Amino acid sequence: MKRIGVLTSGGDCSGLNAAIRAVVKRAVHGFGAEVIGILDSTEGLLAEPPRTVPLSLDVFSGQVLRSGGTMLGTVTKGHPFRYPMPDGSVQDRSGTVVSAIHSLGLDGLIGIGGDGSMKILHGLMELAGLPFIGIPKTIDNDVPLTEFAIGFHTAVGVATEALDRLQPTAASHQRVMILETMGRQAGHIALSAGIAGGADVILLPEVPYNIDFIASKLEGIRKEEKRNHALIVCAEAAHSVNGKAAFIDYAGDVVYGGIGHQLGREIALTTGADTRVTVLGHVQRGGPPSSFDRVLASAFGVRAVDLLADGVSGRMVSWWDGRIRDVSLADVVAQEKPVNLQGSRMRAARGLGICIGD
Ligand code: F6P
Repeated sequence: MKRIGVLTSGGDCSGLNAAIRAVVKRAVHGFGAEVIGILDSTEGLLAEPPRTVPLSLDVFSGQVLRSGGTMLGTVTKGHPFRYPMPDGSVQDRSGTVVSAIHSLGLDGLIGIGGDGSMKILHGLMELAGLPFIGIPKTIDNDVPLTEFAIGFHTAVGVATEALDRLQPTAASHQRVMILETMGRQAGHIALSAGIAGGADVILLPEVPYNIDFIASKLEGIRKEEKRNHALIVCAEAAHSVNGKAAFIDYAGDVVYGGIGHQLGREIALTTGADTRVTVLGHVQRGGPPSSFDRVLASAFGVRAVDLLADGVSGRMVSWWDGRIRDVSLADVVAQEKPVNLQGSRMRAARGLGICIGD
């Protein structure tokens, strides 16, 4: 193994730079190998010539470990097998990517991404006939077969801090405060932050809510706890039993959003409570990674390089029961990872008397 590539793909999160750093440190210290950073994921490989940056140890002497975002850039669009062209047509541009990979003289590639990105990258590397190892990242924590993906722990910290800041103002004004978190179709951020931040109600995409149960929870708080304020955490893809997930259309770019405000109006109308909404959004993705995300990213990066050095391919590094292991990428992409409704966090939430909306 003389030269390997590394790239980040999909939505960014905290801890990506820590993972890139670990890949470079392990490759150089462990194997004397050279690392090429590929810029903007597959977009960088579609450019002529491919856009890359040499990653030597000196690049990592400063703040990189501590910094949010990705020093290599990333993309969430432009699937190379179904690439949208300016004239509206769709083209398979995988051949261009494969030629670019060959032109770089890589002995293998490490892709830091969610399960969707890893599937695409693995497919491209199979076409190129070269080894690929995936490192899971996403604040949503919905990558199967790993307990944690890089970025989740930091995002939960941000959402928990938001609840810490919302609680005093909720109490001062006797208000119901709603916090809308990210997470797509998985409620992991909402559930963990809701427990950590002392929420009274947590609404998840996995459990459609009934507004009457939320109203009676708020009524119970008022009567039994003599408390006229409450905290609600609402995942962005949560929806009522008769409703659908809310979306915002930014000129054809459709993203989750709006459920917090929708719910706020429902609560104000049903209960008469003074209600306010905070949409946390991309704040959950930026900023310095938590210490856990730095440890996870570092351990993942080291293991990914070791796997490539062992001639392994088509695997994803994974955190399981406090240990690093590797799992088949084919198994990862064949599954989903919603919140386990019988799991420890759900039992804890229900045991604490938190209303889940059902
Ligand atoms: O997958 C990460 C994520 O932050 C989701 O939680 C969120 O729905 C989405 O990305 C937002 O995407 P974008 O950055 O394109 O708005």
